Amino acid sequence: MNHLFTPFTLKSITLRNRIAVPPMCQYSAEDGFTNDWHRSHYAGLARGGAGLVIVEATAVSPEGRISPACTGLWKDEQQAGMADIAREIKAAGAVPGIQLAHAGRKASANRPWDGDDHIASDDPRGWSTLSPSAIAFGGGLWKEPEAMTLADIQRVQADFVAAARRAREAGFEWLELHFAHGYLAQSFFSVHANQRTDAYGGDFDGRSRFLLETLRAVRQEWPEHLPLTARFGVIEFDGRDEQTLQDAIRLVQLMKAEGLDFLSVSIGFSTPQAKIPWGPAFLAPFAERVKQEAQLPVASSWYIDTPELAEQVLAAGQMDLVMVGRAHLVNPRWTYEAAKALGQPDAAWVLPAPYAHWLARYT
Ligand code: FNR
Repeated sequence: MNHLFTPFTLKSITLRNRIAVPPMCQYSAEDGFTNDWHRSHYAGLARGGAGLVIVEATAVSPEGRISPACTGLWKDEQQAGMADIAREIKAAGAVPGIQLAHAGRKASANRPWDGDDHIASDDPRGWSTLSPSAIAFGGGLWKEPEAMTLADIQRVQADFVAAARRAREAGFEWLELHFAHGYLAQSFFSVHANQRTDAYGGDFDGRSRFLLETLRAVRQEWPEHLPLTARFGVIEFDGRDEQTLQDAIRLVQLMKAEGLDFLSVSIGFSTPQAKIPWGPAFLAPFAERVKQEAQLPVASSWYIDTPELAEQVLAAGQMDLVMVGRAHLVNPRWTYEAAKALGQPDAAWVLPAPYAHWLARYT
């Protein structure tokens, strides 16, 4: 049996294989509402055979959207569309997951294909952004955010809790908190973005506080029997990598003690000056280190896009799940391709019967 096709159980949830589709923004929503695009997109991915499909970064408040076209769960009316998506994913045999996010100082941006930069100040589509300190990210994301007050912090944490409740009620079974990629939570942890002098900044404890408190609050809302996970940038590739890694792993250990069940290991993206060594499975050694030192199951992504490489990182014990992103945009049935390539018995039957029957017989 290939490692890739071994089921994975976490809490009361079992994934049919080790292939996950990571969250990927579609920049196709209006006022946070999902539509036919999202519904067929996610249904197609789940029908392709992956064990877990995580719905894109979904904002916990309007100002927490990356762009005006991002999905949201900040009001009850947004639940119905998300419930359709969760139901479609589940009906196809995958576990429905969702990533909840606040984009912090990277919010209020144009869609990637419209520039990926901040919306002009005089454009009514934009809004003022929030971050731990009034420091812009830089480059095209030039907008100086407002330094959050304690009331802002409490409100955003309450927004995460309310969005988690809506996600649960919509039928999602796997929750991922977006603590990565230079968005709000990562910014609290990052020395590049957080220069606060109060309890939410400064030393390790201060920079960890927002993340730990948010996790603790969500854990109380999210059912104990369902996986509560996070995506976290454990390295910035900014020249102080060992220090960041050690701090990040220490925080993951604390998050585990607060009830974190699983980590998606990623990059900080807190500074445009980062020098990222892109390459096949380049994050795998860092995922492995987090897994071992924090004793927590992990996944990772970034250029794990061939079946052989995916199988290899699992067989080496570097991670428990592989997150295969862009390769799923190329081919939503990537899982079937992987099953064939790895000689998995009855490969076609990783797909639903209306496809599998014919492929098993005639190809
Ligand atoms: C992403 N990525 C991403 N990450 C995340 O945590 N939340 C998100 O909503 C998004 N959105 C998103 C949109 C699109 C179109 C892409 C291509 C990527 C990052 C994504 O989850 C994944 O980590 C990367 O794509 C790297 O993995 P692959 O593509 O090399 O397998």
